[in-house]
Amino acid sequence: MKNDTPATVIEVKNLACGYGETVVLQEISFAVHPQELLFVIGGSGCGKSTLLRCLIGLLKPFRGDVAYFGKSFTTADAGQRREILKTFGVLYQDNALWSSMTLAENVSLPLEEHTSLPRSERAEIVALKLTQVGLSGSGDLFPSELSGGMKKRAALARALALDPVIVFFDEPSEGLDPITSREMDRLILQVRETLGTTMVIVSHQLSSIFRLADRVIVLDHEAKGIIAEGTPAELAATSTDPRVRDFLNQDEDSPKRMNQHLAGGPDHSSK
Ligand SMILES: Nc1ncnc2c1ncn2[C@@H]1O[C@H](COP(=O)(O)OP(=O)(O)O)[C@@H](O)[C@H]1O
Ligand SMILES: [Mg+2]
Repeated sequence: MKNDTPATVIEVKNLACGYGETVVLQEISFAVHPQELLFVIGGSGCGKSTLLRCLIGLLKPFRGDVAYFGKSFTTADAGQRREILKTFGVLYQDNALWSSMTLAENVSLPLEEHTSLPRSERAEIVALKLTQVGLSGSGDLFPSELSGGMKKRAALARALALDPVIVFFDEPSEGLDPITSREMDRLILQVRETLGTTMVIVSHQLSSIFRLADRVIVLDHEAKGIIAEGTPAELAATSTDPRVRDFLNQDEDSPKRMNQHLAGGPDHSSK
C-alpha cells in the first residue's frame, strides 16, 4: 500500500435522504474503492433503493454529499453532472426496458443519447454488449419475449453500453430461480474481471451476497442508517448486533425469507 490517501471511486458523507417530509436515511457515510463489489444489504423497506437513487442523482439528498473521484456530485453544475453521469451504468429494480423496442434498440439507446457514433458503429457495440452478456443473436427480440433472467442480462447489456466505470445494480437476482440467479452472479463477476468496473449492488439475496460481495454495508429501517460494514463472512461470524447476525445467518428458503420476498415484491412488468 502506498501511504498517500487511497483512491476512492465514490465517497458518501453524512448523507440524509427521503421523500417529502419523510427521512428514510440519515448520517450515511461510506466509500467505495476501485473495482470493488460493494453490496448494500438489509431487509425490505430499509432504504436500499432510496440510497441508490441518491447516488445516481434521481433523488436530491436532504443533506450531505456524494462525490465521485473526489468531485462533488451534489454541488456539481449541470455540465459536470452530465460528465459524471456518463461514467455510470444503471440497472433498475424493474429492468426498465422499453417494451416497444427490441433488445438491440434498448441497448443502443444510451449510445444515441450520449454519443454521436454513426449507426454502423452503434450496431457493432450493441452486438458486442449483447455477446458479453450471453445474448448474442437475440437483438431482434422484444422484452416480452424474454425470460426474467434474459431481461436482467439485456438490462446489463444496456448498462454496459457506454463502458461505464461504475455499475449500479438494484436487486440483480430478484425474481430469478436459484440457477438463473447463480448465472447472473457469474456474469457480474465476469464483467468486473474483464471490464474492471466498480459495482454497487443492492440485494437481499444471501447467496449472492456471500458469493460476490467484497464488502457490504447493512442498512436498517429503524436505525435509518448503516448498522454494520465489513465482509459478509466476517459480519456473519463476528457481528454482535443481533439484526446483522439474524440477517446474515438466516436460511434462504425459510418462510420468513419468502415473506420478505413477497413484501418487497417487485413489479416485473416492463414499461
Ligand atoms: N417514491 C417514494 N415516495 C415515498 N416513499 C417512498 C418512495 N419510495 C420508497 N419509499 C419509502 O421509503 C422507504 C425505503 O424504501 P426503499 O428504498 O424502496 O427500500 P428497499 O429498497 O430497501 O426495499 C420505505 O418505507 C418506502 O415505503
Ligand atoms: Mg428496493
